[in-house]
Amino acid sequence: MKQNWKPGTLIYPLPAILVSCGSSDEEYNVFTASWAGTICTNPPMCYVSIRPERYSHAIIKRNMEFTLNLTTEALARATDWCGVRSGRDCDKFKEMNLTPEKGVKVSSPYIVEAPLSIECRVKEIVSLGSHDMFVVDVVNVVADDRYINAETGEFDMKRAGMLVYCHGEYFGLGNRIGHFGWSVKKNK
Ligand SMILES: Cc1cc2nc3c(=O)[nH]c(=O)nc-3n(C[C@H](O)[C@H](O)[C@H](O)COP(=O)(O)O)c2cc1C
Repeated sequence: MKQNWKPGTLIYPLPAILVSCGSSDEEYNVFTASWAGTICTNPPMCYVSIRPERYSHAIIKRNMEFTLNLTTEALARATDWCGVRSGRDCDKFKEMNLTPEKGVKVSSPYIVEAPLSIECRVKEIVSLGSHDMFVVDVVNVVADDRYINAETGEFDMKRAGMLVYCHGEYFGLGNRIGHFGWSVKKNK
């Protein structure tokens, strides 16, 4: 039997991203976001939906720039912590031993410990209700070369140990099932 539930957003799993923002040491802040994703490949565009009451919301609105830092199993505790504590009350970089490094193309810092950091410039803010959707252009990507495959030049997400958020719980990536297009290949 199937049940009909009231409308809700149950698209999982999702990433748990550390969003870093601010344009000076005093303003730097970081928070966790899962309502985030890709919306266009070319030009490269993403979105993050942020509740207006978040401390970071005003910081981002002021600077119109932020950085999406992908997270790993090693960063799981910091990722959760930055999602339940506010920069209004503490310095999350300091408390979680995260290192902010001056951004390359944006004023916001990237997190040195993150394997991949995506620098974003806000193009549009769409007020939707509980959340404002920040539609952004990706202006630069900072990749840790420890995870770049020397032969292919590709970023090795498996080796980085990416973190996944699923309905209130965090997981690692799990077993590899296939690769893009494998279902139609002769030699799988
Ligand atoms: C796994 C996880 C995902 C979250 N996703 C979002 C999100 O997408 N948007 C949002 O506004 N808050 C989200 N939050 C909550 C904020 O991270 C949290 O309120 C944080 O304390 C805000 O920090 P700030 O006040 O320093 O900006 C999430 C929290 C967790 C733990």
